[in-house]
Amino acid sequence: MDFRTQVTAAGAASRVNADALLLLLVGDSLPAGLDEPLAAAVNEAIAAGDFALKPGKWVNLRQVAGVKAPRVLVAACRDAGAKSVKAAAAAALGLIKGLGVEHLAVQISGADAVTGAQAEALASAAGEAVYLYRTTKPSAGEAPKLDKLTLLVADKATAKAAGEGLKRGAAIVDGVTLARELANRPGNHCTPAMLAAEARKLAHAEGLKIEVFDRKEIEALGLGSFLAVARGSDEPPRFVVMHYRGAAKSVAPLVLVGKGITFDSGGISLKPGAEMDEMKFDMGGAASVIGTLCAVSRLKAEVNLIGVIAATENLPSGKALKPGDVITSLSGQTIEVLNTDAEGRLILCDALTYAERFEPAAVVDIATLTGACVVALGAVRSGMFSADDALAAELMAAGEAALDPCWRMPLDDDYDEGLKSNFADMANIGGRAGGAITAAMFLKRFTKKLRWAHLDIAGTAWKGGAAKGATGRPVGLLTHWVLSRAG
Ligand code: BES
Ligand code: MN
Ligand code: ZN
Repeated sequence: MDFRTQVTAAGAASRVNADALLLLLVGDSLPAGLDEPLAAAVNEAIAAGDFALKPGKWVNLRQVAGVKAPRVLVAACRDAGAKSVKAAAAAALGLIKGLGVEHLAVQISGADAVTGAQAEALASAAGEAVYLYRTTKPSAGEAPKLDKLTLLVADKATAKAAGEGLKRGAAIVDGVTLARELANRPGNHCTPAMLAAEARKLAHAEGLKIEVFDRKEIEALGLGSFLAVARGSDEPPRFVVMHYRGAAKSVAPLVLVGKGITFDSGGISLKPGAEMDEMKFDMGGAASVIGTLCAVSRLKAEVNLIGVIAATENLPSGKALKPGDVITSLSGQTIEVLNTDAEGRLILCDALTYAERFEPAAVVDIATLTGACVVALGAVRSGMFSADDALAAELMAAGEAALDPCWRMPLDDDYDEGLKSNFADMANIGGRAGGAITAAMFLKRFTKKLRWAHLDIAGTAWKGGAAKGATGRPVGLLTHWVLSRAG
C-alpha cells in the first residue's frame, strides 16, 4: 500500500482538495475554531438527529456547501487520547473501504496541539480502514488506492511531532497490512513455500538478506523437532531467516521467531471440525515477523533485526507424528509427544535454539500457541511471558504505545511440574489447567542461553464471526519495541 503522509499548518479544512475529509471532534460542544462551512454542516446534522457529540457517533456528509472535499466524515471522540482518536477514526473510516479514496485529509478539533501519538493512530486507522482482502475474492471491491494522507494542524510548532507520528503510523500499518494479508490467505494459497516466497519478495523489495532452507537442509541443520511436525504433510516445510541491518555489524541483533503453521489440523490428535478453518491463521506469528521487518525497514531503524520463521502444515498421515513418539530437538533434549496438536512449541523450540547462533541482545517469539490463552485474556491483550523483568517492561510499554497491548503472565518453576516424562527429557503437554503457561514453560527449557520473551497471540491475531479476518497484531507492539531499542 505504502501511502505518503503530510502535515499542513496552512489553510482551512474546508478548502483542502481531498477525496474525503475526516473531521474528529473532541468535547461535548462544537469547538470554537472550526471552519464556518463545517460548523454549519455539523450543527445541521445535530439538529436533524443524524449526529451527536457523543463517543461512538459519526456521520457521513456529502457535498457540503463551501467545502471542497466531496465527502466529509465527522466523528466524535471520547477524549483526546490516541486510543479514542483511533477508535473514532476507525468507526467513521469503515465507510471508505472499497471506495478507492486516494487522498484523505484529517483534522482534529477541540483538542490541544496534535501529538505524535494521535498522528500515528490516525495513519494506522486510515491504512487499516482501506485494507480489503481480495486475493481469493476480487469481487469484494476496488483495491485500496490510498496514496496520500494529509493532517491539518493549527500551527507549525506541532508539525514536527505530528509528521513523525504519521510516518511511524504509515510504516506500521504497512507491516500490519502485510501481516493481515498473509494470514488471511487460506492454507492452499499460503503454503510454507508460498509464505517463504512472500518473505523473499519483501526481502528483495527492502534489500534484506534472506536464507530459505528446504526439508533436506532443515534435516542437515538438525531441527529434529520441527521436522517431526512437518513429517505428516506432503507440503514441503520451509525454515526462513531474514536479516535487517540498520546498525554496525558489532551491534548484537534482536531476533523475532514466528510460528508458521500454515494449517493446523491437530495432526493425529485431530481437532474437532467446528471452526477448524480458522487454523489457517496459525501462521499469524510468522506473518507478524514479516510485517515487523517490513515496518522496521521502512523506518530505517538503527538496529539489527533478524526474523526466523518455521513454516509447515500440521496434518495427519501415514508418516505423521504419533502420540507417544519421542523426538530429539536441535538442543539435544528429547521430547515425548503426548499430543500432536501441541505442535507450535515443537517447531518453536528448534527455532529458539537456532537463534542462539546470532548471540542476540534479546529474542521474542510470537505464536498463536494455545486456546488456553484465549480463555485467559480474550481478544484484547496478547499473553506475554518473560523471566526478564526489564524485557517484560519494554514489551508492556511498547504494547501500550502502539495501542496493541499485552499482559504479563507468570513463569514460576512450579508450573514446569506437568511437563515431566518417563520416556524423554520432557513431555510436550502438561495438564489442561494453566495451558498457556505450561506451553511457555516448555519453551523456557530451550532459552537458558537467551534473553527471551514469548507472546501468545492466539486471542489477538484474528477475529472470528462475521468480521472473520486477521488483525495484523502484534506488528505494532513489535515495531515499537524494536524502535525503543534503536540507537
Ligand atoms: N494453534 C493451536 C492454538 C489455538 C487454538 C489458537 C485455538 C487459537 C484458537 C495450537 O497448536 C493448539 O492446538 N494448542 C492446543 C494445545 C493443547 C493440545 C495442549 C490447544 O490449545 O488446545
Ligand atoms: Mn495445534
Ligand atoms: Zn497450532
